[in-house]
Amino acid sequence: MDYPILKASHAGLAYLSVMLFSLRAVLSYVRPDCLQGKLLRIAPHVLDSALLAAGITLAVWAGLSPHAQPWLAAKLLALVAYIVLGYIGLKKLHGSPLRAVVLVGALLLAAYMIAVAKSKMVWPF
Ligand code: HEM
Repeated sequence: MDYPILKASHAGLAYLSVMLFSLRAVLSYVRPDCLQGKLLRIAPHVLDSALLAAGITLAVWAGLSPHAQPWLAAKLLALVAYIVLGYIGLKKLHGSPLRAVVLVGALLLAAYMIAVAKSKMVWPF
């Protein structure tokens, strides 16, 4: 596989992953029982593992490192925060108004990661 195809696959997986996260966030309010289904429990892990594996492969192929590329370091830090907020937002704080704030925060971080990836700037706005 060549670099542009892997990059397009990585970007496609990123958009799918964010859409699936948004769907799960909405379902957690309107149909929480649906989140217990096998598909919605397994698919995010499969998708996110493929997304991260593609991202790491791209960085290795292109010789990019978070030590030398501040945008990549910022993206990885945002990724850790996105995972933590996503976990708290979907699994904890049930019944708390704070949950919506945490979920919106996670979605803003996803938008930030996409903007950073496209601009290669730590502050892309
Ligand atoms: C281990 C985690 C990740 C690593 C190491 C990584 C690394 C990379 C690299 C090296 C590129 C290619 C840059 C280029 O050649 O132009 C890229 C592109 C991209 N990444 Fe990631 N990425 C990771 C996770 C993510 C996540 C979680 C998202 C979004 C939720 C994301 C969204 C994107 C997008 C949209 C592009 C395409 C940018 C464009 O159109 O030019 N990545 N990523």
